[in-house]
Amino acid sequence: MKIKVMTVFGTRPEAIKMAPLVLALRADERFEAITTVTAQHREMLDSALEIFKIKPDYDLNLMHKGQTLQEITADVLTKIDGVIKKADPDIILVHGDTTTTFAAALAGFYNQKTLGHVEAGLRTWNKYSPFPEEMNRQMTDDLCDIYFAPTELSKKNLLKQNHPSDQIYVTGNTAIDAMHETIKDDYRHEIFNDLDPQKKMVLLTMHRRENQGSKMKETFEAIREVVLKRNDVQVVYPVHLSPKVQEAAHEVFDDVKDVHLIDPLDVVDFHNLQAKSSFIMSDSGGVQEEAPALHKPVLVLRDTTERPEGVLAGTLKLVGTNGENVKKEMLRLLDDEEEYQRMANAKNPYGDGHACERILDAIAYYFKRTDVRPKDFV
Ligand code: UD1
Ligand code: UDP
Repeated sequence: MKIKVMTVFGTRPEAIKMAPLVLALRADERFEAITTVTAQHREMLDSALEIFKIKPDYDLNLMHKGQTLQEITADVLTKIDGVIKKADPDIILVHGDTTTTFAAALAGFYNQKTLGHVEAGLRTWNKYSPFPEEMNRQMTDDLCDIYFAPTELSKKNLLKQNHPSDQIYVTGNTAIDAMHETIKDDYRHEIFNDLDPQKKMVLLTMHRRENQGSKMKETFEAIREVVLKRNDVQVVYPVHLSPKVQEAAHEVFDDVKDVHLIDPLDVVDFHNLQAKSSFIMSDSGGVQEEAPALHKPVLVLRDTTERPEGVLAGTLKLVGTNGENVKKEMLRLLDDEEEYQRMANAKNPYGDGHACERILDAIAYYFKRTDVRPKDFV
């Protein structure tokens, strides 16, 4: 009998990191793969599904403009219940820390299903930073039975909260698996037609709920000031579709020639643009894992990170959103070659591209289809 595995995801980052797992499940005879999307994101989710050629079995189609956390939670919880009952999976896999993650795990729990958490154990230990993600992941871990921790540190975090050691597998992050499909040496994008090859290209993304408002404005003003003062730097910013982010970005950058505000990119374009950038400024979670694999320094525009491995390794620097600090660190990476090389040449701590294999083998082991427990990623 095949093990019926239902993957549930809803936003862009979950889709990008679950896609290689969905493809691996579909290709493996031990499993029957059922794919459910909540569509907490619509366009940005569809873009990732299209790139990885994944057609979901169930689509809850719940996104609406300016949705609240309460609405997403209630919609996922009620709409996924019938799907879980109909598909009747042996195990449900959720990913990361979005509201889809938590609400789908809660719905699975109400149906007394075995639950697996992919990218389990990330922590800042600060309830409101990032908000609401820190509590989404803690509550999801409380509901789950089996944990796929990307790093040794995330395993330690789970142990601190008394999650059982024998149910924790250190797998590496599936983001690195995804990059094996997307990075291309001969990559070219039309955005390059608008860029000046003589100027350094900085890639920017910023979208987090706790940064929206004054923090985002202060950060954008600082970047604007640096770009206007110099003539050797240009910024490319694929702006998240959240209306609050769109408004803030256009307000500050519309009249700055060397800041290119563009639509969100599909994941192939975005990964390759990271690879072609000089460095990255971002409050994204996923970017903090991908950039080290591409040897690109990241100025993390947040006060906390649940990904301290990259800070320890030296690729990530937590700079926050204070304008003076953002300017100082941006200028340092533009002008101090030694500092740049130090950050660019650090070792990627987030994975070796084999996370999905480990996750599949761990599920087979959990359901007693093999006596061999998969080895942890070190
Ligand atoms: C969500 C996640 C966040 C993750 C981010 C990734 C929660 C609480 N937040 O935040 O953890 O880092 O996704 O991007 O789960 N929109 C569109 N089209 C899209 C996507 C979004 O128009 O394809 C607009 C809609 O107006 C939507 C708004 O963006 O209401 C916000 O989306 P939402 O998922 O609520 O929050 P994010 O900030 O994207
Ligand atoms: N990404 C993308 N297109 C973009 C910006 C980001 O495909 O225009 C990818 C990026 O490579 C990473 C993921 O989206 O895999 C990160 O998503 P996001 O920053 O929205 O969410 P977070 O990781 O912060 O939850």
